Amino acid sequence: MCGIVGYIGKKNAKPILINGLSRLEYRGYDSAGIATIEDDKIEVVKSKGRVSTLESIEDIKNLKGTIGIAHTRWATHGKPSKENSHPHFDNSKSFAVVHNGIIENYIELKKFLTNKDYKFYSETDTEIIPNLIHYYYSNDLNDDSLKFLRAVTKACSELKGSFALEILSKFNPTEIIVVRHDSPLVIGKGDSENYISSDIPAILSYTKDFYILNDDEFGILTSKTANFYDSNLNKINKKAVNIDWNSSSAEKDGYEDFMLKEIYEQPNSIRETIGSRISLDSKCYIENIDFTKRFLKSINKIYIVACGTAMHAGLCGKVVLEDICGIPTEVDIASEFRYRNPIIDEKTLVIFISQSGETADTIAALKLSKSKGATTIAITNVVGSSITREADYSIYTHAGPEIAVASTKAYTAQVVLLAILAIYFAEILEINSDKLLKLKKSILELPSLVKEVLKNTDDIKDFAKKVYKEKDMFFLGRGIDYTVAREASLKLKEISYIHSEAYPAGELKHGPIALIENDVTVVGILTDSHLSKKTISNLQEVITRGAKTFIITNQNVDNDFDNVIKIPKINTLLSPILSIIPLQLFSYYISKEKGLDVDKPRNLAKSVTVE
Ligand code: F6R
Repeated sequence: MCGIVGYIGKKNAKPILINGLSRLEYRGYDSAGIATIEDDKIEVVKSKGRVSTLESIEDIKNLKGTIGIAHTRWATHGKPSKENSHPHFDNSKSFAVVHNGIIENYIELKKFLTNKDYKFYSETDTEIIPNLIHYYYSNDLNDDSLKFLRAVTKACSELKGSFALEILSKFNPTEIIVVRHDSPLVIGKGDSENYISSDIPAILSYTKDFYILNDDEFGILTSKTANFYDSNLNKINKKAVNIDWNSSSAEKDGYEDFMLKEIYEQPNSIRETIGSRISLDSKCYIENIDFTKRFLKSINKIYIVACGTAMHAGLCGKVVLEDICGIPTEVDIASEFRYRNPIIDEKTLVIFISQSGETADTIAALKLSKSKGATTIAITNVVGSSITREADYSIYTHAGPEIAVASTKAYTAQVVLLAILAIYFAEILEINSDKLLKLKKSILELPSLVKEVLKNTDDIKDFAKKVYKEKDMFFLGRGIDYTVAREASLKLKEISYIHSEAYPAGELKHGPIALIENDVTVVGILTDSHLSKKTISNLQEVITRGAKTFIITNQNVDNDFDNVIKIPKINTLLSPILSIIPLQLFSYYISKEKGLDVDKPRNLAKSVTVE
């Protein structure tokens, strides 16, 4: 997905911008570009390909300005090419713009501008923006200090869709204007300098103090000042907030890949997510939420809405919420939910899960739920992300920045947080305190049990070496183990490009067993003692048909299976947090055996800010 970086200060902007772009590479992109101002002139250098390609261009060596904007593009309108990459100029080269998001009405605006003799040189939706700014700027007869901002606000008022923008003007060579609307953007406050980014980790090594921009707020940044305005040009008072992320937590810390590092960070990310929310001698506490028994009694249905891995965490959350709170809970994929007129009203609680807090479908589903009167909770990993501005209540997983595209530690943190939320509800509802106490004890044991799972990885690696050339695999489980099968199957597809299917084990004989033949690998997950025997029978059926079996279990199983990975016993409601870990590693080792780019799998982006 596209990434934005900007700098205004006394230093040479280019190395800071290039460093920021490199840190955004994990988001996925196909071209990159940079613009700086020097001697009141805007210089742009851009290219298709990686940031390293951009760096090797001869012209970039001459960029010496102390003010600049930069971008990595993930193509939406028009192919990856130099012409389509950002920054984009207006026809007179007076304004340069980088843009994240999609302008939905760009064809209408292009027609409007074409009728006014503007020409277009790219296939992008973005190119209309600098030209629209130019149109308003050149038609404004007032020559005051807000002329640049006025042109930008007027242009933005015409835009439909999502946008985070950085804008340079040759008429105001000591300023950068920024704005956001449904697309992330933060400003890092330095000492006589300001940094801009779509993603906090990109500039975290320069500052920890951030101005968080809300939708439709504009910033005029100079080296010494950061002034903020609403769309009517009224000044807004904004204080910088300190973001307590360690900059080294955004680096690889000696691991070969971010994904491996993030898998191994799970004891800590889980501990941080539990924090002081759970203790054995007091009630569960969740910051920012103050539900009453009366309110929770009035709720007759919970929806959990999310995409991909976050949705899989929601499937685990459903099991816990129904089991301990007794509230019917449905899980839905955000891109389906938003278009299917779901039955929700003021008696519905909708929980949205999003690691990034920026997923377009999830945010749209949230807006829809609010418009129907539901109470909404966002579970996210990113403080100040878009979803937190929309939801009635926001709760944070404290997993730290997740850089690898394939989500690992965010998933386990989400599952833990959903269990904590269920306990919080159950305590308010005064439900079965014995059961809750047991669950609380198990939650507190999680960090050390996860550590234990991470100690024995040789068998997983060995099995990955045996099967990495395969074309298809199956993941089977029942009950909560089936939710893990779905997440494990997604992980394998994402980073190893092996086709895989997850099935409830009992469903196998209703069709998919036709695909089982000699040497197909079937992964079985067995953590629920009530269901294990039944899953074992299903696995026996695939063994009879020649399949190789790889089993993740906390039960004593016989040795008909080719490989058995034992994990510690835990309350079944929490077992996904342990059983997914060997399977995260399994996908990781297969991907490594195949020599693939684990952290940046093809076609995928970390933050999916378009639908
Ligand atoms: C898979 C993965 C994706 C995300 C999905 C939602 O490893 O990371 O499936 O879970 O794109 O992203 P967020 O959680 O940021 O809303």
